[in-house]
Amino acid sequence: MMLPPTSARSPLFALAVTAGAVLIFIFGLLAWQSPAQVSFPHASVHDEVVTDSSRTPAAHDVFRLLFAPMKVEPANATFTFYDENIENLTTLRLPARPRYTKNMGKDVLVLDLETRPLESTKQYKEGQYDWTKLNHVSGGVFSHYTYAQVHGYDYKFIRAHEFEDRHATWIKPSALAQHIKNYKFIVFLDADATFRFMHLPIEWMLNYWKIEPMHSITMALDPWSVEEADYNSDRFNRTYANTGFMVVQNNAKIMEILKAWHECPDDTRYPGCSYWKEPKFHEQSAFGEHIRYDYEKYVKELPCAEANGFPGVTVSDCQGRFVRHYWFDKANIKKDFRDNVMNALTLPIQRMFAENAGGIIHEQVENVLP
Ligand SMILES: *[C@@H]1O[C@H](CO)[C@@H](O)[C@H](O)[C@H]1NC(C)=O
Ligand SMILES: *[C@@H]1O[C@H](CO)[C@@H](O)[C@H](O)[C@H]1NC(C)=O
Ligand SMILES: *[C@@H]1O[C@H](CO)[C@@H](O)[C@H](O)[C@H]1NC(C)=O
Repeated sequence: MMLPPTSARSPLFALAVTAGAVLIFIFGLLAWQSPAQVSFPHASVHDEVVTDSSRTPAAHDVFRLLFAPMKVEPANATFTFYDENIENLTTLRLPARPRYTKNMGKDVLVLDLETRPLESTKQYKEGQYDWTKLNHVSGGVFSHYTYAQVHGYDYKFIRAHEFEDRHATWIKPSALAQHIKNYKFIVFLDADATFRFMHLPIEWMLNYWKIEPMHSITMALDPWSVEEADYNSDRFNRTYANTGFMVVQNNAKIMEILKAWHECPDDTRYPGCSYWKEPKFHEQSAFGEHIRYDYEKYVKELPCAEANGFPGVTVSDCQGRFVRHYWFDKANIKKDFRDNVMNALTLPIQRMFAENAGGIIHEQVENVLP
């Protein structure tokens, strides 16, 4: 991450201190009230669950305040960060005349889509909660929710019912169609995909990727390698785009595209599409084999490196620069989430030490006994 300027009296500093103070107050309040906490029979000292929701600070306030000092403006000319395995800072520059200059707030929906309820919810209801035991699905979903709160976007977790005749991931086109009419954009992520930078708004990425009003759907390509030349390729040897991360824009074409996609397995408009009801990659293959060829100019395909894969992947440079998608090592999604939150939590502390706020640093000039 990149630190905001460190001048002692900057407004950012004031904001950081305020956010810090609010958090300390909130956590202090919780600690003060803790004797009344209910401790569950199965719970260890680490996983007591507060059952009275009126005592839990609203998560959206906490995260908004926590990240406020770090947030990048939608059209900030540059974005500077420590890239994976690169010793020095990396600076990326927006193209000239960025289109998205304001936070779009509730016009953006961050969307999770599952056919099963979260496993962690079941455990929570049995009185257990422990971050270290949380599975990657909840880790991913919680990080999406947090991202939405940090930037003031809307958030929904859709629990869709299973199809009887096709793979569960086929729920995507109809779910997008049901909600896009109420938003300008839907940002959809699979549970094993997440934003790498919690403090970088989607507007900045849309600017960076040059998303235009005509782009109904944006996705990142999958990797391609000589060794597995066919694995991610369609029948014309074109690499599939991955549906694990999608930016869907409410424009004149979007409903037509989603309808074509959802109805693809009917074999009416696209003979042979029903083949993809169950085999891999289901709706993703159907989109790659059929839909995108009818809507080329409305579909934006990003390089794999930008919004697919994760650190350590070498094929097609899919290292998840902005959006990470853990095809394997899925538990690492929790590490990304944790690192982002720790950055935001500890920045005000670092600043206090750097600026000797409250006179916490004492200089001992002479090393003698009093
Ligand atoms: C925002 O842009 C300015 C000017 O290019 C730059 O100095 C600053 O570091 C950028 N902010 C972040 C968080 O990267
Ligand atoms: C990092 O920056 C320093 C100072 O500019 C330079 O000497 C060094 O070679 C850079 N390291 C890398 C890996 O680029
Ligand atoms: C398939 O596409 C890849 C690039 O994505 C290319 O390197 C390869 O030669 C192509 N294979 C055939 C049989 O055309």
